[in-house]
Amino acid sequence: MKSVTVIRHPLVQHNLTRLRDERTEPQEFRRALSEVAALMVYEATRSFAVKKVNVRTPLALAPGFRLQRDVLLVPVLRAGLGMMDSILQLIPHARVGFIGLKREETTLHAQFYHKSLPKNLSRFEIILIDPMLATGGSTVAAMDLLMAQKALNVRLVNLVAAPEGIRRVRQSYPQLPIFTAAVDKKLNDRGFILPGLGDAGDRLFGV
Ligand code: PRP
Repeated sequence: MKSVTVIRHPLVQHNLTRLRDERTEPQEFRRALSEVAALMVYEATRSFAVKKVNVRTPLALAPGFRLQRDVLLVPVLRAGLGMMDSILQLIPHARVGFIGLKREETTLHAQFYHKSLPKNLSRFEIILIDPMLATGGSTVAAMDLLMAQKALNVRLVNLVAAPEGIRRVRQSYPQLPIFTAAVDKKLNDRGFILPGLGDAGDRLFGV
């Protein structure tokens, strides 16, 4: 599918399999999710805009590059938190915004409950972080919030996506680059990804 990059690196797939395994306890789940996020961020940031700069080494002038834009990480609460820390370690100068959404269990609509973002997002390279893309409602709701604040450069770092969710996001935001470790089979009748990994938030925090 256009703009969907499935990261098939063996270490990503190894960690994804640990995450899928129902025997993986929260402590191990947190570690594996954090590791996979760090691996995925290399691919997801490959197209960051850079500008040419020269620096003086102790010996001579050297051509180099700097990131053109400031970086903003936006984890979608709660599950996005599980991928945030390790990404922040790799991009320590990044700022962090938050979007809180909770999927209502019967309607599956994403209910908004929290937002903490810089006012104008146009100068940022934004990494939206949510390990699960099921119906796509949460990603669309998060994107609506970002676009309302003039976001121009957004990419989604995701772990497992359902084809239904990708289609829904594509309808509203066809240009959004999605980086994921797997496009799974389908949703079940409760809106859970099959085979998926269950409820990422619950498995992360044990609640
Ligand atoms: C889960 C998941 C995504 C969302 C995906 O979060 O972490 O944010 O559902 O579903 P969708 O694509 O159908 O919108 P949930 O709303 O359960 O909140 P939580 O992370 O706090 O558990």
